[in-house]
Amino acid sequence: MAPPALALQTQELTKTYRTGFWLRQKITSLKQVSLTVHIGETFGLLGPNGAGKTTFMKLILGIIRPTAGGGTVLGRPLGDRFIKARIGYLPENPYLYESLTGWECLELMATLHQVPRSVQKQRLPALLELVGLAQSAARKKTLRRYSKGMLQRIGLAQSLVNDPDLVLLDEPMSGLDPLGRYQVREIILQLKSQGKTIFFNSHILSDVEHLCDRVAVLARGELLAVGTFAELLGTGQTYHVRGRGGSAADLAPWLEHFEFQGGLWQGQLRLSLPEFVQKVQESGAEILSLNLERQSLEEFFVQQLRQRGYTQSV
Ligand SMILES: Nc1ncnc2c1ncn2[C@@H]1O[C@H](COP(=O)(O)OP(=O)(O)OP(=O)(O)O)[C@@H](O)[C@H]1O
Ligand SMILES: [Mg+2]
Repeated sequence: MAPPALALQTQELTKTYRTGFWLRQKITSLKQVSLTVHIGETFGLLGPNGAGKTTFMKLILGIIRPTAGGGTVLGRPLGDRFIKARIGYLPENPYLYESLTGWECLELMATLHQVPRSVQKQRLPALLELVGLAQSAARKKTLRRYSKGMLQRIGLAQSLVNDPDLVLLDEPMSGLDPLGRYQVREIILQLKSQGKTIFFNSHILSDVEHLCDRVAVLARGELLAVGTFAELLGTGQTYHVRGRGGSAADLAPWLEHFEFQGGLWQGQLRLSLPEFVQKVQESGAEILSLNLERQSLEEFFVQQLRQRGYTQSV
């Protein structure tokens, strides 16, 4: 059988929860989300609290069933129980047995995944090495005595005991200090270099910016944007220009935030670069410096939400 080209694909995936005493109240957590993730991609699903990120992940894993729509994971329909063996999952709040040591925790998960003992012998030390918990002090400590960063890293290791092709990480950096976040980021980069497909949820935009090939923005269950950073942020780029000479009256219409003092001027381009260069030459002015200013992911994210009238997370 040819390997699937897509790691996951959803078509109009929708989830409505029924709540309240008579289950009469409806909450639509996900509205017709169609998304494609390719094999080998690192994909980030961004969204404020309550956007539906965890709901999407649970649907992919088959933990919950869609109200409408569907999709495939590694070429098989959502919820296919055989495909679970090829997926790794780090839940939002991983439940780990506190009385176990790091080593025992991995051993338990590997046994539940039916990883043969001979394979465990090599894989578990390699995983502890990967997540920086190989020192004997760390592997012998019970999880009760682990720091939050160590717990997150052992959580990551347990999501990899079955050597999955697709790794789903729900907020892997949340609650960690800068060093902890850096460590988790490095682990994700290593997984990426091993060719694994990584799909993760986050609202920490700077982490996503460093790791992902593509991102999607989700808010109140709706997909607002999907693409590479160049696709999403490319349109938001502007040139900041500094120059001298010419007249303020000539230059002002072509530049945003225009300033003119002592013959020197600066501002952001309102027209295309070639057009501007020509106009500057005609007006007898001179360009001193030109800097490309790209919109940050955070600015893009906030702009997307504001355009749709979202002013606060739920
Ligand atoms: N089991 C459930 N029953 C009823 N409503 C639910 C259930 N699970 C989630 N929801 C609702 O669905 C919406 C989306 O929740 P979800 O946990 O998927 O968001 P999220 O993007 O993961 O948020 P966060 O960033 O806070 O983790 C929320 O309004 C939430 O209250
Ligand atoms: Mg969540």
